[in-house]
Amino acid sequence: MRKKIIAGNWKMNMTVTEAKALCDKLLPLVNTDAVDVVFCVPAIDIVPVVEKLQGSKISVGAENLYFEESGAYTGEISANMLVDAGVKYVIMGHSERRGYFHETDEDINKKAKKALEKGLTPIICCGESLEQREMAIYFEWISMQIKAAFQGISAEDAGKCVIAYEPIWAIGTGKTATAEQAEEVCAYIRKVICEIYSQAVGEKIRIQYGGSMNAGNCKELLSKPNIDGGLIGGASLKEEFAKIVNYQD
Ligand code: G3P
Repeated sequence: MRKKIIAGNWKMNMTVTEAKALCDKLLPLVNTDAVDVVFCVPAIDIVPVVEKLQGSKISVGAENLYFEESGAYTGEISANMLVDAGVKYVIMGHSERRGYFHETDEDINKKAKKALEKGLTPIICCGESLEQREMAIYFEWISMQIKAAFQGISAEDAGKCVIAYEPIWAIGTGKTATAEQAEEVCAYIRKVICEIYSQAVGEKIRIQYGGSMNAGNCKELLSKPNIDGGLIGGASLKEEFAKIVNYQD
């Protein structure tokens, strides 16, 4: 049985002051016994949040990394820097980075390989646009994204990864995919991983749903057999995040 993993993606929110206050608010509320909990935070918040969460079972994630070891890459952050700061997870391939910052499937593959090389757990995002959903070509699109992201990654390393299915039309819109829609795609993603690697890797890898998951819909979504957790945006910035983490209570 795969342990659920619920991660907040703070995006470009929370000053250091606000981040510390949110940690103080959530720490006593979040039940970390049943699920893995991750706060994925902006770079500026990593060190203070790691300090705030010291001693808790909540892990800290980053929202990006650059795939080179080090060097003249102004503004970028290396995997070494994240590891040294106590980061355990790193989001990559988020539709906002693919869209706004023109990250390619090749970039995401390089980031995944560098993260795994340094012992970080990639949270690899995929998902279709509304147009692709309406044209019913989302399986083909997501299959292409997954195959590109996992190119050249070993079966052992693939099993360590987390995949986040985030339909773009559900991100920040309040229009959540139905539990059936999310389950259909997460099951398909698992099938693609099985075909690339093996049934064992497909059964091991954890697949989250992201896209307007909230306290009201999380229980139905997380009850689905192929949905192993959530990647939470807006709702992760407030107490509601604890209700999502504690959904089994
Ligand atoms: O990475 C998670 C995010 O894209 C989902 O955002 O605000 O729809 O929960 P939101």
